[in-house]
Amino acid sequence: MKKSLVAGIACLSLSLSSAAPWAVLAAPHQTVATDNGQSTLQPITSDVAVIAHRGASAYGPEHTLAAYKEAIKMKADYVEFDLQMTKDGQLIAMHDETLARTTNAKELYPDRAPWRVKDFTMDEIKRLDAGSWFNAAYPELAKKEYIGQHVPTLDEAIQFVKKHGNGKVGLYMETKAPDVYPGMEEKLIEILQKNKVLDSKNLFLESFSEDSLRKLKTLAPNVKLIQLYTGAMLKGKDVYQEFKRVADYASGIGPSKELVVPKFMEAAHQNQLLVHPWTVNSQDDLASLLSLGVDGEFTNNPDKMVELTDKPFISHGVASGDVTDTSAILWARTNDAANVQFEISTDSSFKEPFIVKTVHAEAENDFAVKAKMDGLKPDTTYFYRAHAVSSSYTVNGSFKTAPAENSLKPLTMVWGGDTGGQGEIPPYNSFKAMSALNPDFFLFSGDTIYADNKTPAVPNPPSQSVQDFWAKYKENRTDAGLRSLLQKTATFSIWDDHEVTNDFSGPSQPLTPTGLRAFEDYWPISNERSSADKLYHTYSWGNTLDMMILNNRGYRAPNTQADGADKTMLGGEQLEWLKKQLLESDAKIKLVATSVPISVPTGKANARDGWANGNQVNPNDPTGYENEFKKISDFIVEKGIKNVFFVTTDVHFAQVIKYDANHDGKTDYHELISGPIGAVKINPGTLDPTFSPESMYAEGNFFNFGVFKVDPTTNKATVEIRDENGKIHFNYDFQLED
Ligand code: G3P
Ligand code: CA
Repeated sequence: MKKSLVAGIACLSLSLSSAAPWAVLAAPHQTVATDNGQSTLQPITSDVAVIAHRGASAYGPEHTLAAYKEAIKMKADYVEFDLQMTKDGQLIAMHDETLARTTNAKELYPDRAPWRVKDFTMDEIKRLDAGSWFNAAYPELAKKEYIGQHVPTLDEAIQFVKKHGNGKVGLYMETKAPDVYPGMEEKLIEILQKNKVLDSKNLFLESFSEDSLRKLKTLAPNVKLIQLYTGAMLKGKDVYQEFKRVADYASGIGPSKELVVPKFMEAAHQNQLLVHPWTVNSQDDLASLLSLGVDGEFTNNPDKMVELTDKPFISHGVASGDVTDTSAILWARTNDAANVQFEISTDSSFKEPFIVKTVHAEAENDFAVKAKMDGLKPDTTYFYRAHAVSSSYTVNGSFKTAPAENSLKPLTMVWGGDTGGQGEIPPYNSFKAMSALNPDFFLFSGDTIYADNKTPAVPNPPSQSVQDFWAKYKENRTDAGLRSLLQKTATFSIWDDHEVTNDFSGPSQPLTPTGLRAFEDYWPISNERSSADKLYHTYSWGNTLDMMILNNRGYRAPNTQADGADKTMLGGEQLEWLKKQLLESDAKIKLVATSVPISVPTGKANARDGWANGNQVNPNDPTGYENEFKKISDFIVEKGIKNVFFVTTDVHFAQVIKYDANHDGKTDYHELISGPIGAVKINPGTLDPTFSPESMYAEGNFFNFGVFKVDPTTNKATVEIRDENGKIHFNYDFQLED
């Protein structure tokens, strides 16, 4: 019996770091599973099915007893037959309507083109060789036993699987082109009855033809039916409506694999429909679909899927982050308790000496693991790979270490945020577009999940348990574009409000420890940031850039509190740290990674969430954090700190702003705003005038991300705002000050 893919119950003791400013009493000892019990991105079956597509057809000639034998040897749960009907009304296992591709019909019956199955009797078909073609097509897989394999009748196929599968291997069969063969369904049911398998719980009948399935339903009301889908069949359809309708007669659906995304899974599972995508052959694809919660997969390689259903594996890709010139944090997650091995090398074939670290994945962290790799060389591309030690399934990644402290090297970073809000769910196109730019690193500027919004992972928001929060991170990791970006380059993740709940203030929000715990579980956060839950820290890219990552949530006074000398967003310690970092930085660019904007009034009136109080729209609004920001702004001006860029997302439109805070006609600092990647899109509004912002560009109503490039040789920095397809909507070169 295969292990269910959702981890079992595990004992957990929730502990909170005492340094957290909001430390609440540690929750009592809890036993929790790692799924949240409400996500539709989980199988609705207790056993995810390995369905050998046409037999183990990657290893032997499809639809021959040899291929079926291979599938049984590989412990497939089901063997799939496609059915055609002969001239004399016999059902045979054959995919095509013609005999030409998978038999020697052209040689044996040269004048019978186009060799349609329905034009040949069973006797004529029995004379064909249905195996030699495979040896010719795949010499590296050729076997003597494949020569002379016959086309099996349905009777033979059923009896073979019954006999060799010892009753453990199920039957899955498709009425192919039923409109070509009147009476096919009646014949099929007759044969299933005769072989005493019609009432088997391990029997599925499938078809692209709804008519055929409805006919089968009439003939055998208790048989489990699977409605197959191509993309074209679903074009323009509302999957929620379609699957509600299909649930009238089907137990599940069999979609072409590229159709399977969270929305699709939610619509199917909400209607209690099993999801069996086809045809899934690479372990990356098999694992990716398992992360979406499918209930089985059609595969030509049953062995590859059995490995994933039988033992813990890397379930949601890998990531690297918080990179310095000599170190990096590697991240992975398994679907159950396991030892995870990380290997790293400068040689992508891993032949060169490399570092190996093994970390234990535990339920306490939803089986997410991190490993710090140090002793690395600056300005070097590293390749790494991770696998659960009991599994051969390995996921690869790469990153680049920062240049050495005193070197001036060019830099390209991408930044974005706001993924999964207001009904937007993965996949998000922007990640693919970012990945295509091969950036040196990715700054994920907050709202990396929307824990308090309804999505397939948390249909009943807001997230309350840590399992809810974990489900949100897993949901966004089902996005192949995000996994590709995380696997290709290093990520610096910061949190904003939706990692916990809308516009929260850490010290006063009871959910803060839970949200923070999940955030630190799911991102490659360094100990420097996670210790005492500080999250703020400076990362340098040689002398080109110092990136000061802020924690705008963990120390803030409530948004509703009236602004004043003692109201703080960053907390006294972080504010002094930021000023010190700005003053002491000898990098060309000081980039302040903030999760909230300066002059765009966010939140709501009388509870402003960014620094601005929005007096230009709500006169006399007493809230916001302008007192505090004025300390930062004045410090930059008074100390003459040059080339300061505040980079953020959060506001759901793109904007580039320059500030002349002391009105002397000279720009003092800039603010670069991108987004959303995947949340509601809105249009820009007016800026709060307090710090003398001047908008250089503003555009809303489109998904977008930002690119920031620095070229020390020309002493220029370039900002680009690109839409989700990578098209540039704005770019500007900043001449840097020496
Ligand atoms: O039956 C599921 C899948 O096999 C459908 O495609 O063409 O391989 O039969 P096909
Ligand atoms: Ca099929």
